[in-house]
Amino acid sequence: MTRRADEDELAAREAEALDRAAAARDADRDADRVVSPLADADDRVIETALRPKRLADFVGQQRVRDQLSLVLESAVRRGRPPDHVLLSGPPGLGKTTIAMIIAAELGTPMRITSGPAIERSGDLAAVLSTLTEGEVVFIDEIHRLARPAEEMLYLAMEDFRVDVVVGKGPGATAIPLDIAPFTLVGATTRSGLLPAPLRDRFGFTAHMDFYQPAELEIIIRRSAGLLGVTLRDDGAAELAGRSRGTPRIANRLLRRVRDYAEVKGNGVVDRAVARAALELYEVDEQGLDRLDRAVLDALIRRYGGGPVGLSTLAVLVGEEAETVEVVAEPFLVRRGLLARTPRGRVATPAAWEHLGLTPPEGSTGPGGLTGPGMPTLFD
Ligand SMILES: Nc1ncnc2c1ncn2[C@@H]1O[C@H](COP(=O)(O)OP(=O)(O)OP(=O)(O)O)[C@@H](O)[C@H]1O
Ligand SMILES: [Mg+2]
Repeated sequence: MTRRADEDELAAREAEALDRAAAARDADRDADRVVSPLADADDRVIETALRPKRLADFVGQQRVRDQLSLVLESAVRRGRPPDHVLLSGPPGLGKTTIAMIIAAELGTPMRITSGPAIERSGDLAAVLSTLTEGEVVFIDEIHRLARPAEEMLYLAMEDFRVDVVVGKGPGATAIPLDIAPFTLVGATTRSGLLPAPLRDRFGFTAHMDFYQPAELEIIIRRSAGLLGVTLRDDGAAELAGRSRGTPRIANRLLRRVRDYAEVKGNGVVDRAVARAALELYEVDEQGLDRLDRAVLDALIRRYGGGPVGLSTLAVLVGEEAETVEVVAEPFLVRRGLLARTPRGRVATPAAWEHLGLTPPEGSTGPGGLTGPGMPTLFD
Protein backbone atom coordinates (compact mmCIF):
# COMPACT_ATOMS: atom_id res chain seq x y z
CA MET A 1 0.00 0.00 0.00
CA THR A 2 1.29 3.48 -0.74
CA ARG A 3 1.86 5.91 2.08
CA ARG A 4 -0.95 8.14 0.82
CA ALA A 5 -3.50 5.30 0.73
CA ASP A 6 -2.21 4.23 4.13
CA GLU A 7 -2.88 7.65 5.55
CA ASP A 8 -6.30 7.83 3.96
CA GLU A 9 -7.28 4.53 5.42
CA LEU A 10 -5.97 5.57 8.80
CA ALA A 11 -7.93 8.80 8.61
CA ALA A 12 -11.08 6.93 7.64
CA ARG A 13 -10.64 4.50 10.52
CA GLU A 14 -10.05 7.36 12.93
CA ALA A 15 -13.12 9.19 11.71
CA GLU A 16 -15.19 6.07 12.17
CA ALA A 17 -13.89 5.44 15.67
CA LEU A 18 -14.48 9.08 16.60
CA ASP A 19 -17.98 8.85 15.28
CA ARG A 20 -18.73 5.77 17.36
CA ALA A 21 -17.20 7.29 20.47
CA ALA A 22 -19.12 10.54 20.09
CA ALA A 23 -22.37 8.80 19.26
CA ALA A 24 -22.05 6.61 22.34
CA ARG A 25 -21.42 9.68 24.42
CA ASP A 26 -24.05 12.02 23.08
CA ALA A 27 -26.83 9.49 22.58
CA ASP A 28 -28.52 10.59 25.77
CA ARG A 29 -28.30 14.34 25.24
CA ASP A 30 -29.86 16.73 22.80
CA ALA A 31 -27.64 17.83 20.00
CA ASP A 32 -30.27 19.14 17.63
CA ARG A 33 -30.19 22.83 18.56
CA VAL A 34 -28.35 25.01 16.10
CA VAL A 35 -26.33 26.45 19.00
CA SER A 36 -25.78 23.15 20.79
CA PRO A 37 -22.09 22.71 21.54
CA LEU A 38 -22.57 18.94 21.14
CA ALA A 39 -21.85 17.34 17.79
CA ASP A 40 -24.71 15.92 15.75
CA ALA A 41 -24.23 13.36 12.96
CA ASP A 42 -23.70 16.10 10.35
CA ASP A 43 -21.08 17.81 12.47
CA ARG A 44 -19.17 14.60 12.91
CA VAL A 45 -18.93 14.09 9.18
CA ILE A 46 -17.92 17.64 8.36
CA GLU A 47 -15.61 18.11 11.35
CA THR A 48 -13.10 15.62 10.04
CA ALA A 49 -12.58 17.96 7.10
CA LEU A 50 -12.49 21.14 9.18
CA ARG A 51 -10.15 19.98 11.93
CA PRO A 52 -6.74 21.65 11.91
CA LYS A 53 -4.18 18.86 11.63
CA ARG A 54 -1.13 20.51 13.19
CA LEU A 55 -0.52 22.67 16.24
CA ALA A 56 0.52 25.58 14.03
CA ASP A 57 -2.91 25.65 12.35
CA PHE A 58 -4.77 25.57 15.64
CA VAL A 59 -6.25 28.99 16.39
CA GLY A 60 -6.55 30.38 19.92
CA GLN A 61 -5.88 28.65 23.27
CA GLN A 62 -2.46 30.27 23.20
CA ARG A 63 -1.37 29.04 26.61
CA VAL A 64 -2.42 25.45 25.92
CA ARG A 65 -0.62 25.56 22.58
CA ASP A 66 2.59 26.95 24.06
CA GLN A 67 2.67 24.47 26.91
CA LEU A 68 1.77 21.52 24.74
CA SER A 69 4.35 22.30 22.10
CA LEU A 70 7.02 22.28 24.82
CA VAL A 71 5.81 18.96 26.21
CA LEU A 72 5.73 17.40 22.74
CA GLU A 73 9.01 18.79 21.54
CA SER A 74 10.96 17.70 24.57
CA ALA A 75 9.44 14.22 24.32
CA VAL A 76 10.44 13.98 20.67
CA ARG A 77 13.98 15.07 21.54
CA ARG A 78 14.28 12.52 24.31
CA GLY A 79 12.78 9.87 22.07
CA ARG A 80 10.30 8.94 24.78
CA PRO A 81 6.51 9.14 24.83
CA PRO A 82 5.38 12.37 26.54
CA ASP A 83 3.49 12.50 29.82
CA HIS A 84 -0.17 11.60 29.82
CA VAL A 85 -2.30 14.57 28.82
CA LEU A 86 -5.70 15.53 30.20
CA LEU A 87 -7.82 17.92 28.14
CA SER A 88 -10.69 19.46 30.03
CA GLY A 89 -13.30 21.97 29.00
CA PRO A 90 -16.79 22.45 27.62
CA PRO A 91 -17.90 20.65 24.44
CA GLY A 92 -16.84 21.88 21.01
CA LEU A 93 -13.72 23.81 22.02
CA GLY A 94 -11.22 21.52 20.34
CA LYS A 95 -10.32 18.70 22.75
CA THR A 96 -10.62 15.96 20.15
CA THR A 97 -8.82 18.18 17.67
CA ILE A 98 -5.91 18.62 20.08
CA ALA A 99 -5.81 14.89 20.78
CA MET A 100 -5.44 14.18 17.08
CA ILE A 101 -2.84 16.91 16.74
CA ILE A 102 -0.80 15.32 19.54
CA ALA A 103 -0.61 12.04 17.63
CA ALA A 104 0.17 13.89 14.39
CA GLU A 105 2.95 15.96 15.97
CA LEU A 106 4.46 12.81 17.51
CA GLY A 107 4.07 10.96 14.24
CA THR A 108 2.42 8.03 16.00
CA PRO A 109 -0.79 6.11 15.41
CA MET A 110 -3.72 6.76 17.72
CA ARG A 111 -6.32 4.48 19.29
CA ILE A 112 -9.64 6.12 19.94
CA THR A 113 -12.21 5.05 22.46
CA SER A 114 -14.45 6.62 25.07
CA GLY A 115 -15.50 6.15 28.67
CA PRO A 116 -19.01 4.90 27.85
CA ALA A 117 -17.67 2.54 25.14
CA ILE A 118 -15.52 0.69 27.68
CA GLU A 119 -18.05 -1.36 29.57
CA ARG A 120 -15.76 -3.89 31.20
CA SER A 121 -12.10 -3.78 32.16
CA GLY A 122 -11.55 -6.48 29.53
CA ASP A 123 -12.44 -3.93 26.84
CA LEU A 124 -9.65 -1.71 28.08
CA ALA A 125 -7.19 -4.59 28.47
CA ALA A 126 -7.83 -5.48 24.82
CA VAL A 127 -6.79 -1.99 23.74
CA LEU A 128 -3.81 -1.64 26.05
CA SER A 129 -2.31 -5.08 25.49
CA THR A 130 -2.12 -4.60 21.72
CA LEU A 131 -0.36 -1.22 21.73
CA THR A 132 2.88 -0.62 19.93
CA GLU A 133 5.52 1.52 21.60
CA GLY A 134 4.72 5.23 21.76
CA GLU A 135 1.14 4.98 20.57
CA VAL A 136 -1.39 7.56 21.67
CA VAL A 137 -4.53 6.25 23.33
CA PHE A 138 -7.37 8.73 23.28
CA ILE A 139 -10.18 8.19 25.79
CA ASP A 140 -12.98 10.67 25.28
CA GLU A 141 -15.31 11.49 28.19
CA ILE A 142 -12.90 9.73 30.48
CA HIS A 143 -14.95 10.64 33.55
CA ARG A 144 -17.52 8.09 32.41
CA LEU A 145 -15.18 5.09 32.62
CA ALA A 146 -16.49 2.20 34.67
CA ARG A 147 -14.78 1.75 38.01
CA PRO A 148 -12.87 -1.51 37.29
CA ALA A 149 -11.54 -0.07 34.02
CA GLU A 150 -10.46 3.04 35.87
CA GLU A 151 -8.43 0.99 38.31
CA MET A 152 -6.81 -0.93 35.50
CA LEU A 153 -5.90 2.38 33.92
CA TYR A 154 -4.09 3.60 37.06
CA LEU A 155 -1.60 0.77 36.85
CA ALA A 156 -1.26 1.06 33.10
CA MET A 157 -0.54 4.79 33.26
CA GLU A 158 1.98 4.45 36.04
CA ASP A 159 3.82 1.20 35.40
CA PHE A 160 2.79 0.29 31.85
CA ARG A 161 1.32 -2.91 33.20
CA VAL A 162 -2.13 -4.43 33.37
CA ASP A 163 -3.38 -7.21 35.59
CA VAL A 164 -5.44 -9.64 33.58
CA VAL A 165 -7.74 -11.61 35.83
CA VAL A 166 -8.13 -15.24 34.87
CA GLY A 167 -10.89 -17.37 36.33
CA LYS A 168 -13.71 -16.46 38.67
CA GLY A 169 -14.42 -16.43 42.37
CA PRO A 170 -11.85 -17.49 44.99
CA GLY A 171 -9.74 -19.30 42.38
CA ALA A 172 -9.28 -16.19 40.23
CA THR A 173 -5.72 -15.06 39.72
CA ALA A 174 -4.33 -11.80 38.38
CA ILE A 175 -1.64 -12.25 35.76
CA PRO A 176 0.52 -9.15 35.33
CA LEU A 177 1.17 -8.25 31.72
CA ASP A 178 3.66 -5.68 30.50
CA ILE A 179 2.39 -3.26 27.93
CA ALA A 180 4.23 -0.91 25.59
CA PRO A 181 4.91 2.61 26.89
CA PHE A 182 2.13 4.82 25.54
CA THR A 183 0.66 8.25 26.01
CA LEU A 184 -2.84 8.52 27.31
CA VAL A 185 -4.81 11.52 26.16
CA GLY A 186 -7.99 11.86 28.16
CA ALA A 187 -10.72 14.35 27.38
CA THR A 188 -13.48 15.40 29.71
CA THR A 189 -16.24 17.96 29.83
CA ARG A 190 -16.60 17.35 33.57
CA SER A 191 -13.15 17.33 35.14
CA GLY A 192 -14.77 17.76 38.55
CA LEU A 193 -16.11 14.22 38.25
CA LEU A 194 -12.66 12.70 37.73
CA PRO A 195 -11.44 10.82 40.78
CA ALA A 196 -8.30 12.41 42.21
CA PRO A 197 -6.09 9.33 41.71
CA LEU A 198 -6.86 9.42 38.01
CA ARG A 199 -6.40 13.17 37.71
CA ASP A 200 -3.05 12.97 39.51
CA ARG A 201 -1.66 10.51 37.01
CA PHE A 202 -1.76 12.99 34.18
CA GLY A 203 1.53 14.85 33.81
CA PHE A 204 -0.05 17.68 31.89
CA THR A 205 -3.54 19.13 32.12
CA ALA A 206 -4.83 21.58 29.56
CA HIS A 207 -7.90 23.64 30.38
CA MET A 208 -9.67 24.73 27.23
CA ASP A 209 -11.35 28.08 27.41
CA PHE A 210 -14.03 29.74 25.35
CA TYR A 211 -12.69 31.63 22.33
CA GLN A 212 -12.59 35.36 21.70
CA PRO A 213 -14.69 36.68 18.80
CA ALA A 214 -11.51 37.66 16.92
CA GLU A 215 -10.26 34.06 17.15
CA LEU A 216 -13.61 32.71 16.02
CA GLU A 217 -13.51 35.02 13.02
CA ILE A 218 -10.23 33.46 11.94
CA ILE A 219 -11.66 29.97 12.42
CA ILE A 220 -14.81 30.84 10.47
CA ARG A 221 -12.82 32.33 7.60
CA ARG A 222 -10.63 29.24 7.47
CA SER A 223 -13.68 26.95 7.42
CA ALA A 224 -15.35 29.08 4.73
CA GLY A 225 -12.23 28.62 2.61
CA LEU A 226 -12.34 24.85 3.08
CA LEU A 227 -16.07 24.68 2.34
CA GLY A 228 -15.84 27.00 -0.66
CA VAL A 229 -18.13 29.63 0.87
CA THR A 230 -17.74 33.28 -0.17
CA LEU A 231 -17.69 35.08 3.15
CA ARG A 232 -17.36 38.83 3.68
CA ASP A 233 -15.51 40.14 6.72
CA ASP A 234 -18.65 41.68 8.22
CA GLY A 235 -20.40 38.33 7.78
CA ALA A 236 -17.58 36.56 9.64
CA ALA A 237 -17.79 39.11 12.46
CA GLU A 238 -21.55 38.69 12.76
CA LEU A 239 -21.22 34.90 12.97
CA ALA A 240 -18.35 35.08 15.46
CA GLY A 241 -20.41 37.26 17.79
CA ARG A 242 -23.23 34.71 17.92
CA SER A 243 -21.12 31.56 18.26
CA ARG A 244 -20.96 31.44 22.05
CA GLY A 245 -17.18 31.30 22.08
CA THR A 246 -17.33 27.81 20.55
CA PRO A 247 -15.71 26.78 17.25
CA ARG A 248 -18.13 23.90 16.70
CA ILE A 249 -21.07 26.32 16.88
CA ALA A 250 -19.24 28.81 14.64
CA ASN A 251 -18.75 26.13 12.00
CA ARG A 252 -22.36 25.03 12.24
CA LEU A 253 -23.76 28.56 12.00
CA LEU A 254 -21.56 29.09 8.98
CA ARG A 255 -23.13 26.09 7.25
CA ARG A 256 -26.68 27.14 8.11
CA VAL A 257 -26.02 30.68 6.89
CA ARG A 258 -24.40 29.35 3.74
CA ASP A 259 -27.56 27.29 3.04
CA TYR A 260 -29.64 30.42 3.48
CA ALA A 261 -27.36 32.47 1.24
CA GLU A 262 -27.55 29.85 -1.49
CA VAL A 263 -31.33 29.53 -1.42
CA LYS A 264 -32.40 33.11 -0.71
CA GLY A 265 -29.43 35.08 -2.03
CA ASN A 266 -26.52 34.81 -4.39
CA GLY A 267 -24.47 32.52 -2.16
CA VAL A 268 -22.41 35.33 -0.62
CA VAL A 269 -22.43 35.53 3.16
CA ASP A 270 -22.30 39.09 4.44
CA ARG A 271 -23.68 40.75 7.56
CA ALA A 272 -27.22 41.21 6.27
CA VAL A 273 -27.49 37.61 5.10
CA ALA A 274 -26.01 36.31 8.36
CA ARG A 275 -28.50 38.37 10.39
CA ALA A 276 -31.51 37.31 8.37
CA ALA A 277 -30.51 33.64 8.48
CA LEU A 278 -29.85 33.59 12.20
CA GLU A 279 -33.12 35.32 12.91
CA LEU A 280 -34.78 32.46 11.08
CA TYR A 281 -32.91 29.97 13.28
CA GLU A 282 -33.82 31.95 16.41
CA VAL A 283 -30.26 32.67 17.43
CA ASP A 284 -30.11 36.16 18.89
CA GLU A 285 -27.24 38.72 18.87
CA GLN A 286 -25.69 37.21 21.96
CA GLY A 287 -25.98 33.67 20.61
CA LEU A 288 -28.88 32.69 22.86
CA ASP A 289 -31.41 30.32 21.37
CA ARG A 290 -34.84 29.17 22.41
CA LEU A 291 -33.63 26.86 25.22
CA ASP A 292 -31.48 29.58 26.77
CA ARG A 293 -34.31 32.06 26.65
CA ALA A 294 -36.67 29.39 28.03
CA VAL A 295 -34.34 28.88 31.00
CA LEU A 296 -34.20 32.60 31.73
CA ASP A 297 -37.90 32.94 31.12
CA ALA A 298 -38.75 30.12 33.54
CA LEU A 299 -36.46 31.59 36.19
CA ILE A 300 -37.81 35.09 35.85
CA ARG A 301 -41.50 34.74 35.00
CA ARG A 302 -42.23 31.65 37.08
CA TYR A 303 -39.89 32.22 40.02
CA GLY A 304 -39.30 35.94 40.07
CA GLY A 305 -35.64 35.46 39.22
CA GLY A 306 -34.94 32.52 41.52
CA PRO A 307 -33.27 30.86 43.28
CA VAL A 308 -34.53 27.68 41.65
CA GLY A 309 -33.00 24.22 41.94
CA LEU A 310 -31.49 22.68 38.81
CA SER A 311 -33.94 19.78 38.61
CA THR A 312 -36.95 22.08 38.90
CA LEU A 313 -35.53 24.32 36.23
CA ALA A 314 -34.95 21.33 33.96
CA VAL A 315 -38.55 20.18 34.36
CA LEU A 316 -39.84 23.68 33.60
CA VAL A 317 -38.01 23.78 30.28
CA GLY A 318 -38.63 20.12 29.47
CA GLU A 319 -35.00 19.02 29.40
CA GLU A 320 -32.68 16.67 31.23
CA ALA A 321 -30.95 18.32 34.17
CA GLU A 322 -27.61 17.36 32.64
CA THR A 323 -28.51 19.13 29.39
CA VAL A 324 -29.44 22.31 31.20
CA GLU A 325 -26.29 22.10 33.30
CA VAL A 326 -23.80 21.20 30.58
CA VAL A 327 -25.33 22.82 27.52
CA ALA A 328 -27.20 25.96 28.52
CA GLU A 329 -25.81 27.07 31.86
CA PRO A 330 -22.09 27.46 31.22
CA PHE A 331 -22.80 29.98 28.52
CA LEU A 332 -25.47 31.83 30.50
CA VAL A 333 -23.15 31.99 33.51
CA ARG A 334 -20.27 33.19 31.40
CA ARG A 335 -22.45 35.86 29.87
CA GLY A 336 -23.42 37.03 33.35
CA LEU A 337 -27.07 36.17 32.75
CA LEU A 338 -27.36 33.41 35.31
CA ALA A 339 -25.66 32.72 38.62
CA ARG A 340 -25.26 29.43 40.43
CA THR A 341 -25.69 29.91 44.15
CA PRO A 342 -25.81 27.35 46.97
CA ARG A 343 -29.60 27.84 47.04
CA GLY A 344 -30.15 27.40 43.34
CA ARG A 345 -30.03 29.20 40.03
CA VAL A 346 -30.61 32.95 39.95
CA ALA A 347 -31.29 35.28 37.02
CA THR A 348 -29.11 38.38 37.06
CA PRO A 349 -30.36 41.88 36.23
CA ALA A 350 -28.74 41.47 32.80
CA ALA A 351 -31.05 38.50 32.20
CA TRP A 352 -34.14 40.58 33.00
CA GLU A 353 -32.89 43.21 30.60
CA HIS A 354 -32.17 40.61 27.94
CA LEU A 355 -35.83 39.58 28.06
CA GLY A 356 -36.84 43.23 27.87
CA LEU A 357 -37.92 43.38 31.52
CA THR A 358 -36.95 45.70 34.36
CA PRO A 359 -34.97 43.95 37.08
CA PRO A 360 -36.59 44.20 40.50
CA GLU A 361 -35.29 46.66 43.09
CA GLY A 362 -32.45 45.31 45.17
CA SER A 363 -31.19 42.73 42.70
CA THR A 364 -27.98 44.50 41.94
CA GLY A 365 -25.81 41.64 40.81
CA PRO A 366 -25.43 37.90 40.67
CA GLY A 367 -25.82 37.80 44.46
CA GLY A 368 -29.05 39.77 44.49
CA LEU A 369 -31.69 37.26 45.40
CA THR A 370 -34.57 39.56 46.16
CA GLY A 371 -36.86 39.15 43.20
CA PRO A 372 -40.62 39.55 43.51
CA GLY A 373 -42.07 36.62 45.36
CA MET A 374 -38.90 36.29 47.43
CA PRO A 375 -39.28 37.26 51.06
CA THR A 376 -36.97 40.07 52.10
CA LEU A 377 -35.95 41.27 55.51
CA PHE A 378 -38.76 43.82 55.49
CA ASP A 379 -41.68 41.63 54.44
N1 LIG B 1 -8.79 26.09 17.60
C1 LIG B 1 -9.51 25.67 16.57
N2 LIG B 1 -9.25 26.08 15.33
C2 LIG B 1 -10.02 25.68 14.31
N3 LIG B 1 -11.07 24.84 14.42
C3 LIG B 1 -11.37 24.39 15.64
C4 LIG B 1 -10.60 24.76 16.76
N4 LIG B 1 -11.12 24.16 17.84
C5 LIG B 1 -12.16 23.44 17.41
N5 LIG B 1 -12.31 23.58 16.09
C6 LIG B 1 -13.36 22.97 15.27
O1 LIG B 1 -14.49 22.76 16.09
C7 LIG B 1 -15.00 21.46 15.92
C8 LIG B 1 -15.17 20.81 17.25
O2 LIG B 1 -13.93 20.57 17.84
P1 LIG B 1 -13.64 19.23 18.68
O3 LIG B 1 -14.41 18.08 18.11
O4 LIG B 1 -12.18 19.08 18.77
O5 LIG B 1 -14.25 19.64 20.08
P2 LIG B 1 -14.29 18.83 21.45
O6 LIG B 1 -13.76 19.73 22.51
O7 LIG B 1 -13.63 17.52 21.28
O8 LIG B 1 -15.83 18.64 21.69
P3 LIG B 1 -16.57 17.44 22.50
O9 LIG B 1 -16.47 17.78 23.96
O10 LIG B 1 -17.97 17.51 22.01
O11 LIG B 1 -15.89 16.16 22.16
C9 LIG B 1 -14.04 20.74 14.98
O12 LIG B 1 -14.68 20.57 13.76
C10 LIG B 1 -12.90 21.65 14.73
O13 LIG B 1 -12.72 21.79 13.37
MG1 LIG C 1 -14.41 15.62 21.31
